[in-house]
Amino acid sequence: MKEKLIFLGIETSCDETAASVVREKADGTGEILSNIVSSQIDEHKEFGGVVPELAARAHIEKIEIIIKKAVKESGINLSNLDGIAATAGPGLIVCLTVGLNIGKAIAGSLNKPFLAINHLEGHALSPKISNKIKFPYLLLLISGGHTQFLEVNGVNNYKRLGTTIDDALGEAFDKTAKLLGIEFPGGPKIEQWAKKGDENYFKLPKPILKIGGCNLSFAGLKTAVLKTSKILKNEKEKYNLAASFQKTINEILYEKTKVAMKVFLKNKENKNKFFVIAGGVASNLSIRNNLTEVAKEKNFTPIFPPINLCSDNAAMIAWAGIERYKINLIDDLKFSSKARWPLDSSAPFMKGAGLKF
Ligand code: KG4
Ligand code: ZN
Repeated sequence: MKEKLIFLGIETSCDETAASVVREKADGTGEILSNIVSSQIDEHKEFGGVVPELAARAHIEKIEIIIKKAVKESGINLSNLDGIAATAGPGLIVCLTVGLNIGKAIAGSLNKPFLAINHLEGHALSPKISNKIKFPYLLLLISGGHTQFLEVNGVNNYKRLGTTIDDALGEAFDKTAKLLGIEFPGGPKIEQWAKKGDENYFKLPKPILKIGGCNLSFAGLKTAVLKTSKILKNEKEKYNLAASFQKTINEILYEKTKVAMKVFLKNKENKNKFFVIAGGVASNLSIRNNLTEVAKEKNFTPIFPPINLCSDNAAMIAWAGIERYKINLIDDLKFSSKARWPLDSSAPFMKGAGLKF
């Protein structure tokens, strides 16, 4: 196998059209030669969320240009590629199909290996692009669609330790933002508003804090935010609610991370004690500081991807492609997109399902 693999990554699972070229470095990390992300925020703003058909149409319009731009910016020729990796799930089928099909077409026409990537594996391995991390590590994946603690034992080898039983964390941020009149996606704006508010002003619930292991729940918190949003007296109280919400999230994450660390250490000997945090919500600086604190308390090394690799991008997809290719996990051009694709297929489906503790 060639020493420094070069992969093209393609991502269209939701509302970001992205392409990237990544080259492996001799020390095992990656060099991002290009990373083009075109967000569709403006297309979906007025609807308060992602509209699948609109998203798919925007992907179709943009994907070719984005890929050409990524290849041009990387300075490589297509013939230098060692493989093409495209997100195949989980996500919106109409969106996934766009990136997946073009990825297959490029791979087929160039006669290069094709790799179908699980978007969540992209997030899970993304911190390895810029950090030398050894398996196994503890991962907290916090994005718009997922909130999970996972034991990452290797590429394609995940054990779920805990998950949200209702809303994902990014979803909770976006819904709170909507109630405060902030446009979608409101997560980043909540972080800004929180800086201007009093975090001790409203007392909000922390569902299943002391039960359910490292499973999490945000639905009750969302209901409390809804009720509180109706009695706000002025602008200042809006900032106070944003701050109190973020503080409550931080307290939940602090406690649940401690439980997850305990479970992680119990499951295996000889742990490296790396605590990796990935996904869009990991760009929140207050959450980063909070999780750095808990890592310090429990002697874990906290690792965050750079901010531009936290939210959806194709560099993480190209990287997952490189990692999978190295252990021979090459896919067939017949691979179909999957709306649902858990990293740990043995873990029970939880969202909305009554959980028995
Ligand atoms: O990983 P991601 O880009 O897409 C998914 O795979 O879901 O995550 C998007 C989510 C959105 O819910 C967005 O509001 C949230 O991440 N997010 C944030 C911040 N930046 C993005 N939430 C809180 N604070 C932020 N700074
Ligand atoms: Zn994502």
